[in-house]
Amino acid sequence: MDNPNWAVVAEDSGRIHVVELADKPVKVKGLGVFNPSETLQNVAMGAEVTIGQKLLKRLPPRLPELNTGLMRRAQTISPKDAGFIVSRLGLGGEDRVLEAGIGSGALSIHIARVLNSEGLHITVEPRDEHAEVAFVNLRRAQESWPSPPKHHHISGLVEEVTDQIKNVTHEVDAIVLDLPDHPPAIHAVAPLMAVGARLVCYCPVTQQLERAWEACEVEGLTVEWAGELMQREWGRASKGGVRPVNGPFGHTAFLLVAQRQ
Ligand SMILES: C[S@@+](CC[C@H](N)C(=O)[O-])C[C@H]1O[C@@H](n2cnc3c(N)ncnc32)[C@H](O)[C@@H]1O
Repeated sequence: MDNPNWAVVAEDSGRIHVVELADKPVKVKGLGVFNPSETLQNVAMGAEVTIGQKLLKRLPPRLPELNTGLMRRAQTISPKDAGFIVSRLGLGGEDRVLEAGIGSGALSIHIARVLNSEGLHITVEPRDEHAEVAFVNLRRAQESWPSPPKHHHISGLVEEVTDQIKNVTHEVDAIVLDLPDHPPAIHAVAPLMAVGARLVCYCPVTQQLERAWEACEVEGLTVEWAGELMQREWGRASKGGVRPVNGPFGHTAFLLVAQRQ
């Protein structure tokens, strides 16, 4: 994980910066102007380095670091939901995974982490300006971890590019749909699912969940699970003990898992 192109540095507060090791002075958000290559290239993992007024520690680019330091444009899937999606899809090294839309690539780096060089990751996205951001995040992942999967990106609406998907693979083992209108996408991609393959729909509002559920049933898929995941963080209390931290108890999305049996 000693990557020559990127360096991860952490502030004491936990704030993470993923810095491209350009060999010229550049402005890095939150760190100011400096020459990243000169400053960071020879800093060992775990060693401290001062940039401007900040004392930072260099860390290896593991999934949580790359996720925290993600470049963002479209709304992202959080690790809370991404971890569940990866496990409920049962993803393993050599799986063939279809993901639409790629958005900022937050889920994509979780998928890239569990597939190996025998695996296939097909992404679809109609907005090239979103895909460009996702590619930066995916490239960091590909360059940071051994044996990344083959990645194939298709520009367009997933329901309009099934022929292009079929040119890459005739069937897939897993599908994730994080897009606004699930039914047309489900009708288009369900026929690509191998027996045993699973589909996850990420649905911020209940109407999306219900429509996705109906579309899965029309396609003959078995809905295995639908619901949402609640996460409640705990912290140390100032007068001793641990307790739930103050703060919002937020909603991300409803998830639906369906299988081709
Ligand atoms: C919320 S973002 C996805 C975020 C992504 N899962 C992540 O974790 O970064 C939704 C994306 O779906 C794309 N999209 C919308 N309709 C689509 C369709 N029919 N097919 C494929 N992608 C679509 C949007 O352009 C947008 O980038």
